[in-house]
Amino acid sequence: HPATQANLKTLESYGNHIIEPATGELASGLEGKGRMEEPEKIVTWLEGFLKKKQRFTGKKVLITAGPTFEKIDPVRFIGNYSSGKMGLALAEALVEEGADVSLILGPNLEVGNPRLHRVRRESGIGNRQAEIGRISLIHVVSGEEMYKEAHEIYPDMDVSIMAAAVADFKPLDPKESKIKGKEKGFSIDLVPNPDIAKELGKLKRADQLNIGFALETDEGLESALAKKHRKNFDLIVLNSLQDQGAGFGGDTNQITLIAKDNKPRKFELKSKKDVAKDILDEIVRIGNQDQKLFP
Ligand code: CTP
Repeated sequence: HPATQANLKTLESYGNHIIEPATGELASGLEGKGRMEEPEKIVTWLEGFLKKKQRFTGKKVLITAGPTFEKIDPVRFIGNYSSGKMGLALAEALVEEGADVSLILGPNLEVGNPRLHRVRRESGIGNRQAEIGRISLIHVVSGEEMYKEAHEIYPDMDVSIMAAAVADFKPLDPKESKIKGKEKGFSIDLVPNPDIAKELGKLKRADQLNIGFALETDEGLESALAKKHRKNFDLIVLNSLQDQGAGFGGDTNQITLIAKDNKPRKFELKSKKDVAKDILDEIVRIGNQDQKLFP
């Protein structure tokens, strides 16, 4: 029934796994898909699931995600369209693999996002200890706040993933009362925000990995490579807004990964959840290569 199918999708979106029914003779006397799966098969499935490699057990991972809002006056800000979904998908995938995640999240406009509720639940509000791993959620508003929080915890981190769309500029002099003068118009002086990724890149030790994102409106390979060097990333994830289904807001993404060899590898369009898995596989691969981060 469509309602059952919709309910299953909702359950899956909360991170539940579904063991599908088996096909055969049903209680009603009809044949079809609808029998409870054989108990042996359920046990085998569960054993496989519980044995799944917990590649990030004991690893501390910092993720910056979402937009930042830079105050103009009490009613206005400079921001961007980032939803924070890619960062949340990464946090969830990491926790499933045993990581201890610190998620520094900009103001998220999607308050109704079920994923966010789940992360909140597992993050210490109500339930401090999640079943596998842990997410500590740190809410921030501005780029400056995000920088301070990230800078403070960075030395303890094994892996840092900069997925936030930090506003590049902020008003020089945010006002305490609403700016008037619509008729004449007004101008705002802007100053650069701290570049979180670049600053953390300067502090990176040999036993740490930094991963960055590059969102480009054209193909963007050259620009992504330049960012990778400029910010001392071990891996950069390129999204091109030219590719349909990639970028801000949606549930899918198409990425190109550029690791140490500087050779781009383009992936198919996938759900952000599957994209997160591809990124994790790559982090493990480069962490294994020379730094032995994942013995
Ligand atoms: N980044 C950051 N702090 C900033 C700006 C960017 O940490 N103030 C990080 C992003 O999280 C991302 C990477 O740097 O991982 C690249 O971000 P992007 O906005 O594409 O790069 P910019 O340096 O802002 O370059 P440009 O806007 O010129 O494309």
